[in-house]
Amino acid sequence: MAKKINPNRADTTLALPRRQFLQAGLAGTALAASGAIGTATAAGLGVPDWSRQLGASVDDAPYGKPSHFESTVIRRSVEWLTATRESSINFTPLYALDGIVTPNGICFERHHSGAAAVDPEQHRLMIHGMVERPLLFTMADLMRLPRISKFHFLECAANGGMEWRNAQLNGVQFTHGMIHCVQYTGVSLRTLLEEAGVKPKAKWLMVEGGDSAGMNRSVPLDKALDDCMVAFAMNGERLRVEQGYPLRLVVPGFEGNMWVKWLRRIEVGDESWQAREETSKYTDLMPDGRARRFTWEMDCKSVITSPCPENPVVAKGPNVISGLAWSGRGSIKRVDVSLDGGKNWTEARIDGPVLPKCLTRFYLDGWSWNGDQVYMQSRAIDDTGYVQPQMTELQKVRGVNSVYHNNAIQTWFITKTGEVENVRLA
Ligand code: MTE
Ligand code: CO
Repeated sequence: MAKKINPNRADTTLALPRRQFLQAGLAGTALAASGAIGTATAAGLGVPDWSRQLGASVDDAPYGKPSHFESTVIRRSVEWLTATRESSINFTPLYALDGIVTPNGICFERHHSGAAAVDPEQHRLMIHGMVERPLLFTMADLMRLPRISKFHFLECAANGGMEWRNAQLNGVQFTHGMIHCVQYTGVSLRTLLEEAGVKPKAKWLMVEGGDSAGMNRSVPLDKALDDCMVAFAMNGERLRVEQGYPLRLVVPGFEGNMWVKWLRRIEVGDESWQAREETSKYTDLMPDGRARRFTWEMDCKSVITSPCPENPVVAKGPNVISGLAWSGRGSIKRVDVSLDGGKNWTEARIDGPVLPKCLTRFYLDGWSWNGDQVYMQSRAIDDTGYVQPQMTELQKVRGVNSVYHNNAIQTWFITKTGEVENVRLA
C-alpha cells in the first residue's frame, strides 16, 4: 500500500513504498544472492482475487484515470515558495515518468492570477497593429486553417532557480519539474501573420493572455515567423484549462513565460514592449550588478530521473539509470553519465525520437551497484556543440544572484543504503 504523501510538504523526501522495503532490509535479497532478476519458477503465483471475478465494465470510467495504485503520481507545490496559490507554481513528477511525453493531467502549472475559465464560444484572438488587415478570429475560424502538430518541451526560466547557491530541494520533481513535453496541434503563427499582412517596418509582436493578469511579452518577429504556433490541442485532445484552454502560444525552445496562455491578442510593432515580465522579472542579474535581458533560449540541460531522491536504489546488482535531456537551441547530440562526480564519463544510450527543442530520453545500460557511495551526474551536449556546464563553471559567468536559467549539471549522491540525496560538489 502506498503511503499517503502531504502534497504541500516543503521537506520533499517522498515516502514511497520502495523506501520502506529498503529500510526494512527486504529489498532484493534474492536478487543480491543470485545476481538474477526474478525467480526461476512460477511457484507461489497463486490465483489472486482479480483473476477470480469480473473486472470493471466498459464506461465505468468514461474518461479514464491512472490506476489508484499510482495515486502518488501527482503535481506537487512547495508551500514556502509563493505568497498565494493563484500566483504560484507546481511541479511535474518527473521521477515517475518514462519516454518523452508528459501526460496532460500532470503537466506543471504556472499561473500569475489563477487558471482562467475561458468560454471557447466567446473567446476571440485579435491580430492588429502594424498589419495591412487587422483580424479577429473565433475558435471556429482557427479550426478551419491548415494545422500542424509538433512535440516540444516547455521549461519555466525559473526551473532550478532555488538551487543556484546550494543544493536545496530533495527531489527531482522540485529541482527540475518546471518542465513538460507534449505534442501540440494548432496553426502556425506565420500563417496568421501572413493572413494579416505584416508591414515592412515591423520587428516585434506583443502577445497577451486573457487571464486577469493579462500576462504579456514581446516576441521578436523573426521567431514568430520561424516556428511559433497558436495551439488548441495537447497530446491529441483540447488544451487543459491549466495549460491555457482554449488557445496558447507555443514558442519552441524559449522560456516558458513567453508561451502565453488563454491567448487573446497579438499586436505587431517596431519596438519591444518593455512589459513587466521582461523588465522587473525574467532578467538575469549578473555579478557586476547589471541585468541581462531577453535571454529567451533555454540552454542545453539534462537530469537523471532514476535513480533520484524519489527513486532510491533498491538492490545491489543491475539497476536502471535513466534521464531526460533537452536544448532550446536544437536537438540533443549526446548525453554522458558520470558515476564519480564528473571525473570520468560514459556515453549514454539515447532511446526514442530525438527531436529539436524536445525532451530526449537516455539510459546508461549495464550499471551494477556494489553498495558503494556514488556521485551520479549527467551531461548533455546539443547539436550546436554546447556542453552542459558544472555549476562552478556556470557561476564563474553568472555569479550567484540569478534566479533564472540554471542549466547546471545535477549531482545525485547514492548512500551505502541506496538512498539518493541532492548534493553540490565544490
Ligand atoms: N500565460 C498567461 N496568460 N498567464 C500566466 O500566468 N504563465 C507563464 C506562461 N504563460 C502564464 C502564461 C509562465 S511563467 C510559464 S512557465 C508557462 O506559462 C507555464 O505553462 P504551464 O502552466 O502550461 O506549465
Ligand atoms: Co515561468
